[in-house]
Amino acid sequence: MSKRVAIVTGGIGGLGTAICKQLAQDGRQVIAADLGSRQERLAAFREETREYNGNIVFAPADISKYDDCAALVNHVAEKYGSADIVVNAAGITRDTSLKKMSQAQWTDLMHVNLDGVFNMCRNTVDGMTERGFGRIVNISSVNGQTGQFGQTNYSAAKAGMHGFTMALAREVARKGVTVNSVSPGYCKTEMVMKVPEDVRAQIIAQVPVGRLGEPSEIARTVAFLTADDAGFITGANIPVNGGYFMSF
Ligand code: CAA
Repeated sequence: MSKRVAIVTGGIGGLGTAICKQLAQDGRQVIAADLGSRQERLAAFREETREYNGNIVFAPADISKYDDCAALVNHVAEKYGSADIVVNAAGITRDTSLKKMSQAQWTDLMHVNLDGVFNMCRNTVDGMTERGFGRIVNISSVNGQTGQFGQTNYSAAKAGMHGFTMALAREVARKGVTVNSVSPGYCKTEMVMKVPEDVRAQIIAQVPVGRLGEPSEIARTVAFLTADDAGFITGANIPVNGGYFMSF
């Protein structure tokens, strides 16, 4: 059997990079899709993934744009084969309380965090059902389950992702395609490090394991859900949050 082809959106980001590495270690051909304009981060990503010798490649795409996703999926199909695995890890924050939130802070976030999931799934799921195999994982968030001060936009998008996950999971359940979400807690990523230190310390204090998560711990969960023999897990949401729910 030829290598399974995996597209990871937000592929050069904090969680995305760890997911790319884990999937490549599991024998997948990985395409890290992300904004080509992130030059500095891209250079670091290339350095970090050099040892994977072409098993991880970068493809520029703005996943908030439908046509970019269609072009990405076609390019990948021509060069590496049709996408068997899609991990939607692209996401942004625009944190501020609702009373201060501009319309752009709402819509910009929705375009990336939620439209991006539609754009990628809409362009790949038919091929998966036709071939009788597919694995889709949407990276949601603990904050889509609990809500977070200053994140009405982000929490709404992340909760919406899981609704999308369950609905699509039902539509493709008999065609060999699984659709799941993973809800990470606070992990060691640039996004989390941008949260003011005092706020972050308060959050960590509520995590029973008493630390931030490692991106590799999220990647392990994605690998589990995208395995060839994971066909009986679908429409699920796997929280990976250091026991955070037990604090409530
Ligand atoms: N809970 C309750 N009250 C809070 C609060 C909190 N967490 N944070 C601020 N407040 C209060 C303030 O004390 C202030 O009170 P007063 O009006 O009486 O002075 C009021 O709420 C308004 O505060 P601000 O004007 O400071 O609010 P703001 O609009 O500037 O937003 C914030 C503050 C930027 C949202 C800040 O609270 C913050 O950064 N919070 C953390 C958000 C967060 O956790 N983001 C996660 C990003 S990482 C990620 O999302 C990854 C993932 O999936 C886990």
